[in-house]
Amino acid sequence: MKLSSAFIFSIAGAATVFFSGCKPAGSAGGDTIKIGEFASLTGTEATFGISSHEGTLLAIEEINAAGGVLGKKLELLTEDDQSKAGESATVVNKLVSRDNVIAILGEVASSRSLEAAPICQQNKIPMISPSSTNPDVTKTGDYIFRVCFIDPFQGTVMANFATHTLKAKRVAVFTDVKSDYSKGLAKFFKEQFQANGGEIAVELDYNGNDKDFKAQLTSIKAANPDGVFVPGYYTAAALICVQAKQLGLTVPLFGGDGWESAKLTEIGGDAVEGNYFSTHYSPEVATDVSKKFVENFAKRWPGQKLDALAACGYDSALVLAEAIKRAGTTDGAKVREAIAATKNFEAVTGKISINENRDASKSAVILKVEGGKFKYLETVEP
Ligand code: PHE
Repeated sequence: MKLSSAFIFSIAGAATVFFSGCKPAGSAGGDTIKIGEFASLTGTEATFGISSHEGTLLAIEEINAAGGVLGKKLELLTEDDQSKAGESATVVNKLVSRDNVIAILGEVASSRSLEAAPICQQNKIPMISPSSTNPDVTKTGDYIFRVCFIDPFQGTVMANFATHTLKAKRVAVFTDVKSDYSKGLAKFFKEQFQANGGEIAVELDYNGNDKDFKAQLTSIKAANPDGVFVPGYYTAAALICVQAKQLGLTVPLFGGDGWESAKLTEIGGDAVEGNYFSTHYSPEVATDVSKKFVENFAKRWPGQKLDALAACGYDSALVLAEAIKRAGTTDGAKVREAIAATKNFEAVTGKISINENRDASKSAVILKVEGGKFKYLETVEP
């Protein structure tokens, strides 16, 4: 199975860095620059953490191969938050207080970034989320950044897609109430879809790790919508597609970046075919930076599916390294200023400029599930 080998690979990578993280504390002025990473390497969103980590580690290795930063090598200390609430705070506290990292990369899931951000803010340790899209993440404070777009934009993109491409007039919205990401994206989608003259046929909820969605899907089917917006993560999204199909619900289902995982088609099979989601990157958009990344990623992680998570992870490490270089120091306040000053940085996922809210204003791509693959449909500019 592809995923288990990926898992072993990642854990092997993580084990190496855990090991080097066991050096005596207080080595901030040591021979490496320590960067912390927290990611869901195991648990319900394991593919998010693994992909993001693979991209991040690739960037760190490339930077080191090219001589490092400020004459030192970067050392990535990776902690697994197990996709569990409460664990992000624990591991980020550890990275900050025990390991003395000078900056933090992570997380993918907005709820986990929101959990760790106050710790980074209080300790004046710059944090860059590769791919958390809930607007509140960076509102935590001036040390918290992201290198991706936010959900008011992503919600608008999918609402316009529903109105103009799917020609949907009435859409059902099915939200994970345990996820800040899902709740936010549902809200922003609804606002724009209604502004487009669309009607929300029915709104229903589920709880994070639910496995049985039949009761809600029965109500959705009864409302007879033209489509169903599912702003959730891949496991639930795939099961929702499967059960919708079983119930004879034949309208398109569509979602946001949370759908992006090789597991979506593995779990969803036929039932996810012909459905759509928005995300940050497609390898089919072949800029020079992206082409090189696709090549190097394939060499470093053979057999692994390259996705937006890996690309965003890679970009987060590059933006940080570049900022440390410009700052000329690893001092938190100076690195913070340098990250905030990032402009037109040519990254894999597009040009990154950090705006006044410490977010990146970037385009989204819309993908269609076809033949078990994610086919690029279009790019939407902000
Ligand atoms: N944007 C999602 C969140 O904020 C995480 C995610 C990013 C999932 C990219 C998949 C791909 O929770």
